[in-house]
Amino acid sequence: MWSKNQPHLHSLLLIVVPFLFVSTASAANPESDILDKGRNITDGETLVSPGGSFTLGFFPPGVLGKRYLGIWFSMDEDAICWVANRDHPLTDARGVLVISDTRSLLLIDSSGQVVWSSNTTGTASTTVQLLESGNLVSRDGNASGAITWQSFDHPSNTLLPGMKIGKNLWTGEEWYLTSWRSADDPATGNFRYITDTEGVPQNVMLDGGKRIYRTGPWNGLWFSGVTEMGTYSDMFIYRLTSSPSEITYGYVAKAGTPFSRLVLTDDGLFRRLVWDTSSRAWKIFFQGPRDICDQYGRCGAFGLCNASAPSTSFCSCVRGFSPASPVQWKMRDTSNGCRRNVTLDCGNGISTTDGFVVMQGVKLPDTHNASVDASITLEECRTRCLANCSCLAYAPLDLKGGGTGTGCIIWREDLMDLRHVDGGQSLFLRSAKSELGEAQPPKSFPTGIVIGVTVPLVTIILALVAFWFSPWRRRWNRERILVDNPPRVVHNAPRVVDNVAPDSHPPNLALLTTSFPAVGLPAVVQATGNFSEANIIGKGGFSVIYKGELDGYGTVAVKRLKQDSLSEKIKGDYAREIVLMSRFTHANLVKLLCYCQENAECILVYEFMRNRSLNLYIFGNHCIA
Ligand SMILES: *[C@@H]1O[C@H](CO)[C@@H](O)[C@H](O)[C@H]1NC(C)=O
Ligand SMILES: *[C@@H]1O[C@H](CO)[C@@H](O)[C@H](O)[C@H]1NC(C)=O
Ligand SMILES: *[C@@H]1O[C@H](CO)[C@@H](O)[C@H](O)[C@H]1NC(C)=O
Ligand SMILES: *[C@@H]1O[C@H](CO)[C@@H](O)[C@H](O)[C@H]1NC(C)=O
Ligand SMILES: *[C@@H]1O[C@H](CO)[C@@H](O)[C@H](O)[C@H]1NC(C)=O
Ligand SMILES: *[C@@H]1O[C@H](CO)[C@@H](O)[C@H](O)[C@H]1NC(C)=O
Ligand SMILES: *[C@@H]1O[C@H](CO)[C@@H](O)[C@H](O)[C@H]1NC(C)=O
Repeated sequence: MWSKNQPHLHSLLLIVVPFLFVSTASAANPESDILDKGRNITDGETLVSPGGSFTLGFFPPGVLGKRYLGIWFSMDEDAICWVANRDHPLTDARGVLVISDTRSLLLIDSSGQVVWSSNTTGTASTTVQLLESGNLVSRDGNASGAITWQSFDHPSNTLLPGMKIGKNLWTGEEWYLTSWRSADDPATGNFRYITDTEGVPQNVMLDGGKRIYRTGPWNGLWFSGVTEMGTYSDMFIYRLTSSPSEITYGYVAKAGTPFSRLVLTDDGLFRRLVWDTSSRAWKIFFQGPRDICDQYGRCGAFGLCNASAPSTSFCSCVRGFSPASPVQWKMRDTSNGCRRNVTLDCGNGISTTDGFVVMQGVKLPDTHNASVDASITLEECRTRCLANCSCLAYAPLDLKGGGTGTGCIIWREDLMDLRHVDGGQSLFLRSAKSELGEAQPPKSFPTGIVIGVTVPLVTIILALVAFWFSPWRRRWNRERILVDNPPRVVHNAPRVVDNVAPDSHPPNLALLTTSFPAVGLPAVVQATGNFSEANIIGKGGFSVIYKGELDGYGTVAVKRLKQDSLSEKIKGDYAREIVLMSRFTHANLVKLLCYCQENAECILVYEFMRNRSLNLYIFGNHCIA
């Protein structure tokens, strides 16, 4: 029994302060808080805690004729926090609570049958007391006064300050909340609220055996997904104990804090309720699951849920992933989750090209299968993750010290149940080099993106305008003719076409560039494996993009205009793209290396940028056409 290992329990209970208005109310009604061998409690009689806060007695929860023994808040009889015989109701008002000859607490029905027993043994002088914390304890009456049984060890649907849920790692004994079957039936319901002690401790709500809600792992301050806990930490002290003897979660109330309770309702909601003395009503401080994104695994493995997104599109994939079943995903069935676009480079443990993408403001994914090391720094965590292929993500374990946190959580299985949450934390997701790209931890996220997108765009628009009004346009009109009647020059290797005088004949596409190379079709055919399907890396409306190895250039992206879409307009666009792309070198534009114009082929060869979107290659057709 954990109480025996927990000498601090009693001091915790002292923190729960008595409340004057209750004490005065009960003063007029001098009930006893103690049941001893000579006494019994019949239906209609009660035990009242010394300060008057809690009452033990029989109650009918609405179900006609059924009666239960329980403990409730004295000021609100409906706030029942413990039920003894929840699955064995009494059918009349003739039940009685006694201490048996074997020093067990027994609930006996009118026929003398034991309907509930504490199943303990004690000394002759065992006493049972209802404490001011709401805990019913059975003690040895001898000098040791050791607790032999307590109701806090047998939670119903309510966690009170000083109680715990979790596991005793020595005995294997577990404590968890179980819902009522319905609002007026205390029988054991389907929902359970447990502290999952596997991996990194987190609280989990189960429906039957199925996980339906998760608080996220404990991060030293609060549960990763319940950042609200920070807003009422002036009232409560949260205690997550992780020791060789136990992993438990509980809380205590700071002095002066009103009554509070955590309740698992019969319809599967976990609530933190605080008694408002002025309105004499319970105020809901937290309720989970709070929205669609709190539904466990709503967006599947590697899916990311955003509750502020429009109601039908709250699921997306984490960066570098795309829906595993695109058709189902489109139909809003996101259960299959997401799949990695580009396989990871596992490396040899010493060097890998993989890196990490930071996801900010999230509830950390399910830690049930995660592993943990509290003793290392975040930097060591990163190194450790990188060194082992099976590590998919990492995050700091403890945020107490401020900064980026310490300790290390490592995920090796699919990341499940990931969502955005206000004030959430950072998750470092292992990603292939090509996925890292420009959005590496963006310091000033929106500004960076805005500049990154608008600068090239504005440049292009200005260039187009300038182009339209400039003498170049006349030249370009000549070039257009050229495109329509491509020269039959075969180059087997890339070659540099030098700047040609404006009036030289025939006119050349590269007129406007200082030096612009053309490349022979055979070289392109060789580079792309004869335009092999296997080398296709993307398709635009009018073109297909291949990846290839071109002599003298290394890895390139080859954009081949589709023959069937080679209208005059497209050819014109093609020419313009060459002209434009060859003029601008900007960090955010892909560099055009050379072109090929043979046998009615219109081909552009770009430098291959692993970390760039394909849109940049398709760009010409999308933005200029
Ligand atoms: C309960 O106590 C009363 C007297 O206080 C006694 O008459 C009665 O028999 C007791 N009932 C049981 C079940 O022990
Ligand atoms: C006491 O033991 C009986 C029989 O082993 C069991 O059915 C019952 O659930 C136990 N009661 C409690 C409160 O553990
Ligand atoms: C009190 O009772 C417990 C068990 O019932 C026993 O182990 C302990 O030795 C007793 N203590 C004294 C001081 O009698
Ligand atoms: C969530 O969606 C809303 C609405 O589309 C958007 O404004 C917000 O940036 C998204 N949050 C995150 C963290 O992506
Ligand atoms: C790769 O992942 C991104 C999401 O980060 C997605 O938008 C894109 O379509 C994916 N690319 C491919 C080729 O599947
Ligand atoms: C943990 O891993 C096991 C084995 O891979 C898997 O069956 C299970 O679903 C995982 N549990 C969670 C909560 O991710
Ligand atoms: C990676 O981690 C797994 C799981 O802990 C372990 O079994 C495996 O040996 C590790 N591999 C290396 C190369 O360290």
